[in-house]
Amino acid sequence: MKTIKVMTVFGTRPEAIKMAPLALELARRPEFEAVCCVTAQHREMLDSVLDIFSLKPDYDLNVMEPRQTLSTITSKCLTGMDGVLETARPDLVLVHGDTSTTFAGALAAFYHKIPVGHVEAGLRTYDKWSPFPEEVNRKLVGAIADLHFCPTAANRDNLALEHIAQGVFLTGNTVIDALQTTVQTQFRFSEPVLNCLDYVNRKVILVTCHRRENYGQPMANIMTALRQVADAFPNVELVYPVHLSPVVQEAAHKHLDHHPRIHLTAPLDVREMHNLMARCHLVMTDSGGLQEEAPALGKPVLVLRKETERPEAVAAGTVRLAGVEREPILQMASQLLSDPAEYDKMAHAANPYGDGRACRRIADAIAWHFGLRETPPDPFGPL
Ligand code: UD1
Ligand code: UDP
Repeated sequence: MKTIKVMTVFGTRPEAIKMAPLALELARRPEFEAVCCVTAQHREMLDSVLDIFSLKPDYDLNVMEPRQTLSTITSKCLTGMDGVLETARPDLVLVHGDTSTTFAGALAAFYHKIPVGHVEAGLRTYDKWSPFPEEVNRKLVGAIADLHFCPTAANRDNLALEHIAQGVFLTGNTVIDALQTTVQTQFRFSEPVLNCLDYVNRKVILVTCHRRENYGQPMANIMTALRQVADAFPNVELVYPVHLSPVVQEAAHKHLDHHPRIHLTAPLDVREMHNLMARCHLVMTDSGGLQEEAPALGKPVLVLRKETERPEAVAAGTVRLAGVEREPILQMASQLLSDPAEYDKMAHAANPYGDGRACRRIADAIAWHFGLRETPPDPFGPL
């Protein structure tokens, strides 16, 4: 039987978490020859995910530098991909989302006239400065890609507005596939503070914050508000696994050190993170991935951004936009911590982003596109 050589390309932690189950699905199926190329735009945070999913890349560009700029990531990935694509000659390159790796990976494949599949396609804020540079990255990849795997119907409709209708598949988000393999009721944390926390009698708030457009004053505002939340509510324990970016490390330690109920930890491995999320009371984050995972686990989310490209969970009532100013963040968190009715309105499971079968649909769609299957996959519909 003819096999299709499919290369997955990724480099950051969120891409790895969302591409690992797809890389494993492709490797399992006889109709594909699966090859994996990592740029290592992230090093430690990528390796942690590869380790958990037992994924061994065939190519590793090892591009990460401390305080890397957007130009250095893009140029190193682009030139590094040249040699990889010449050697491997895949039939299809799969990229994910909106990072510099995503953009460079798609562009390199295009230069080599290799078709591109875009996983997590069609997310938009329509503000090119927010998220920066991700909004422009994903639009450029949308223009290059031949296959577009949209998590939700709204994402598909966004592409239709850009006259992209061919090769579009509604699949759900692969992050929900990943989440189904990581959360366990009897999970024991290896991070000591997480094993000692009283998740029943205390209100554990899980925080993450790393976005480039929040560097500087917005990040200072967010962190000041977080400290004030901890000061105002003695039953709150705030857990913040701090991203390894030196800019974020500096801001987090400057504003949040030396508080008995604020716990700054190293980045958690993905199993620790998902199990902490499953036990916490509330999530406050500027992350994209956490906005998708927390609703599936029934955890309310305050988004520390001015906008979101993930409006589905806002519509479902489990996510609210808190912005990047100190006062509204403090006010919205205080309301959820002091008003049980308000909290209950948000604390219900919602699955607008996936049903755990996104990877299967994407693999089926690729097989269909290459003539190895008679029918396309059934589209994802929210549960
Ligand atoms: C990148 C993505 C962003 C995504 C985020 C996920 C771009 C432009 N941005 O942003 O879309 O939300 O990843 O986390 O692609 N570092 C380490 N070790 C690591 C990872 C990072 O030391 O394992 C440090 C390095 O000093 C690096 C810095 O963090 O230079 C920033 O990493 P970078 O990938 O440039 O930006 P992120 O903010 O992580
Ligand atoms: N995550 C993790 N450990 C951490 C912080 C985040 O495993 O310490 C996971 C999180 O569960 C989600 C993904 O990383 O799956 C999100 O990555 P990030 O917030 O870095 O990027 P974004 O989603 O904003 O692009």
